[in-house]
Amino acid sequence: MTQVSGVQPSGRLELTWTNKYLRLLAHENGSYEWTHPGDHRVAEVRLLNNVAILGSTHSDRDRSKDNLLIRGDALHALTSLTSLPEFASDYVGKIKLAYIDPPFNTGGAFTQYDDSLEHSVWLTMMRDRLVQIRDLLAHDGAIWLHLDDSEVHRARLVMDEVFGAENYRNTVIWRRTTGKSAAVHSLGTMHESLLVYAKSAAARFRPILLPYDEKYLKSKYGQSDERGPYRLGDLTADGIRQGDSGKPWAGIDPSSKGRHWVCPNPNGVLNALPRNATTQEKLDLLLDEGYVRLPKEAGQWPQFKRSLNEEGGVAVGDIWTDINVLNSQAKERLRFDTQKPELLLDRIIRIATDPGDLVLDCFVGSGTTAAVAQKLNRRWVAVEWSRDTIENFAMPRLSAVVAGTDQGAVTKRTGWKGGGGFRVLDVHPSMFAVDDGRVVLADWATGGALAEAVCAQIGYSPEDDAPFCGHRGRQRLAVVNGLVNEGVVQLLLSWLPDNELLTVYGTAIDPECRNLLATERRGSTIKRIPQSVLDDYRRQARRVDTLWLTLASEASAKPTPARTGS
Ligand SMILES: C[S@@+](CC[C@H](N)C(=O)[O-])C[C@H]1O[C@@H](n2cnc3c(N)ncnc32)[C@H](O)[C@@H]1O
Repeated sequence: MTQVSGVQPSGRLELTWTNKYLRLLAHENGSYEWTHPGDHRVAEVRLLNNVAILGSTHSDRDRSKDNLLIRGDALHALTSLTSLPEFASDYVGKIKLAYIDPPFNTGGAFTQYDDSLEHSVWLTMMRDRLVQIRDLLAHDGAIWLHLDDSEVHRARLVMDEVFGAENYRNTVIWRRTTGKSAAVHSLGTMHESLLVYAKSAAARFRPILLPYDEKYLKSKYGQSDERGPYRLGDLTADGIRQGDSGKPWAGIDPSSKGRHWVCPNPNGVLNALPRNATTQEKLDLLLDEGYVRLPKEAGQWPQFKRSLNEEGGVAVGDIWTDINVLNSQAKERLRFDTQKPELLLDRIIRIATDPGDLVLDCFVGSGTTAAVAQKLNRRWVAVEWSRDTIENFAMPRLSAVVAGTDQGAVTKRTGWKGGGGFRVLDVHPSMFAVDDGRVVLADWATGGALAEAVCAQIGYSPEDDAPFCGHRGRQRLAVVNGLVNEGVVQLLLSWLPDNELLTVYGTAIDPECRNLLATERRGSTIKRIPQSVLDDYRRQARRVDTLWLTLASEASAKPTPARTGS
């Protein structure tokens, strides 16, 4: 990089926007509300409820192999997968491909959802979900973010911030339409964009070869031999070499034109030679095997015969023109306005994953990503917050995939006959309610449900081992929906193994019992719900990033209302 003298600049290159360091609360009706990072409504870790099982799933021991269709806001669902110990161990760092096709923020409205957010709302909504996706991605995983021109330029800067500019791999241009009405004010837009970022340098993409088009074949592969059509290529490269690659062969001295020999190895034919074979021996073998065409006229150079069959096809690059948008007659069309073609997902999934890998889409809409992943024998997690969309599109579609009756293009391409299954989960309602301005426990948060909700907030693995309901390392958890006094503490201690510590949460605490616990089992704690959980949210929000807090408090002076509809 060119050095600039003088005072060195500080700070980093980033996109700023209104309320960048605040958070957004997603409401059931699809609107968002600005709030502070420590607000329980955004900090809470929601439980995930089993709602249904479709097709066949695995035994409890292999539960992580199940495909999941989760109904709820993507942020809640991703936070639960990241934070609930019973999910985190199976999903954090395990997602090989995240493909997301969020609302593009076109300023319009579709039959199934509105697509008009104020830019700052859209950017914050995306940033928060991208951060969670980053934690879920495997070290060799990648994310593909599908957008159009409405936000793609701003989104790329946010992606740089979340995934690191060094992990940007490419932008795939998908030409989705061929014709547009005559351009008067602007040129007709015919494409959408996919921003591709890797989690780290370890991510590898699998090359995909497409057949050559007829015109190209005719112009390049006009000649044929016993291996079929071939084109001619160089057997030399620029630069004089002192070794045997710079010495004459077949009467030609490559150094005379400042070049040296290079030996391609078609079909591994050269592997038959000893490791120390000279360049001339390799060229002789290539000639014997029919891979070299000697010139007819003196002074011309031998050429390499590049066979069409060995080339295989054109490698897929970053401009995709061969996948059509779904037309009204397409068999896989479900009347979901923004449904993407299965062949698009087929290509992405085959480039970014191997069979058995885990694919995530947290804006799954009609279920395209999950349907294709299932048919390509990948595991999947899909999230969608519209109940209507889940019930009328994703669930029936994925059930048909399991039954082998769906009409998608990938069914035909792969010969898919059905099989497997998936679990349907719901993001559980909040464990809190607001009563007269005070945050209290919701009506459902009692007994076992309260115990599970507390485990979720404090990162304990739930267990059914009365009087205990969770554990983390040597800590055992008891949740008491009522007063914790000395009697309760004595009872709990009488059940506690000698080498373990006690964590007690109660809705009311008699201060005397704190001393008792401190004396009887040092390192044990007693906390009051919901207060201590609410305090933890604020503390965690502060700890996450001091910079965040500074900027958030500046921004919090005047939170502006979020505009959510057009
Ligand atoms: C562009 S569509 C996805 C279409 C999908 N790729 C397909 O082929 O059917 C975006 C989807 O994201 C959903 N969505 C929007 N905001 C969401 C959020 N915060 N959490 C989860 N889903 C959301 C919308 O309801 C919509 O179904």
